[in-house]
Amino acid sequence: MELARRVMSIQPSPTLAVDAKAKALKAEGVDVISFGVGEPDFRTPAHICAAAKKAIDDGYHGYTPADGLPELKKAVVEKFKRDNGLTYGLDQVIINVGGKHSSYLLMQALVNEGDEVIVPAPYWVSYPPMVILAGGVPVVLPTQEADDFKLRPEQVEAAITPRTKAIFINSPSNPTGGVYSADELKPIAEICAKKGVIIISDEIYEPILFDGRKFVSTASLGDEIFAHTVTLNGVSKAYAMTGWRIGYMAGPAPIIKACAKIQSQSTSNPTAIAQKAAVEAINGPQDEVEKMRAEFERRRGYIVGRLAAMKGVTCPNPGGAFYVFPNLSAYFGKKWGDKVIQGSVDLSAYLLEEAHIATVPGAAFGEDACVRFSFATSQELIAKGMDRLEEGLAKLA
Ligand SMILES: Cc1ncc(COP(=O)(O)O)c(C=O)c1O
Repeated sequence: MELARRVMSIQPSPTLAVDAKAKALKAEGVDVISFGVGEPDFRTPAHICAAAKKAIDDGYHGYTPADGLPELKKAVVEKFKRDNGLTYGLDQVIINVGGKHSSYLLMQALVNEGDEVIVPAPYWVSYPPMVILAGGVPVVLPTQEADDFKLRPEQVEAAITPRTKAIFINSPSNPTGGVYSADELKPIAEICAKKGVIIISDEIYEPILFDGRKFVSTASLGDEIFAHTVTLNGVSKAYAMTGWRIGYMAGPAPIIKACAKIQSQSTSNPTAIAQKAAVEAINGPQDEVEKMRAEFERRRGYIVGRLAAMKGVTCPNPGGAFYVFPNLSAYFGKKWGDKVIQGSVDLSAYLLEEAHIATVPGAAFGEDACVRFSFATSQELIAKGMDRLEEGLAKLA
């Protein structure tokens, strides 16, 4: 049987693959500590679960409009106004099956065969395959550890061609934890808006910010920028709701309408019950969000301190999200039995098999010098995992 060429042009998500491998080892009885998963280790707050239970009891069992439950779209419009100072109409907002689906739909709606989409590296693993699946060309722009892995405006200007359709900006970043300030972001966004490039601002980690940082939403940086930006967000990371699959976006009405058309012919609508739960998440009390954020900040301090004390390891201090992305390239070229560790894929394999810690190789994010550790796991396991890492690396030295 011959499968479609588009399927052969991409790989399955490497982060989900690492998680599956760690779970398989655990099932065999191996005591694996996982730093692999990109989901909060907290439970969805009880008031949100109660709203879902009520939705079932109240009979929310049917289809909703393809672009989302009107009540949830209204909650999203109000959220953008309240938290980001952005004024969107209801025709500028769509609810999707998770933030991943939002960016997938956007690529399907925007990209023609051969169009270019700028993807700053290190990138979230799903951006390049989504561009490819839409027939586009991901133009990967490497960033430097010394710049906290952030883009420089002149780099963006030089990368834009007549075929450039869009650029992904993700702040706070998965995998680096980097957060753009308004001063860093504005010149980049201005260049894109001036040249008619759509800015896809992936703000899914918005509330998980450290050291008192204030969140900057790209679309709030000027009228021209607003007109060229699609703001992507969702409830997965902020409210520990990864499995509920609710993402949303807002932007120019024709783009949103195009996404709704594709959604109407593919998923129909996100689950009605999960949409009801998302209304409660966005409109309800936000104190659980702050509790989770504060806990992530405590863990960030600990894990960065441990990594910084390890020989040959450098690591920018994440300003948000729940990942650290240390540079472990000092261990490349070292011997593991009769093998030589060539790069991040080998190093992650070594750490899983010999130290029993699951991580994601930086190569999956377009930066081979690094390895991603998620600290969405308990303080106790982080401490134990860091002991194992230290011992594992020492054995290689
Ligand atoms: C940067 C980024 N954007 C979007 C998503 C999508 O999240 P979800 O589809 O779970 O809502 C993720 C999840 O890992 C992410 O890291």
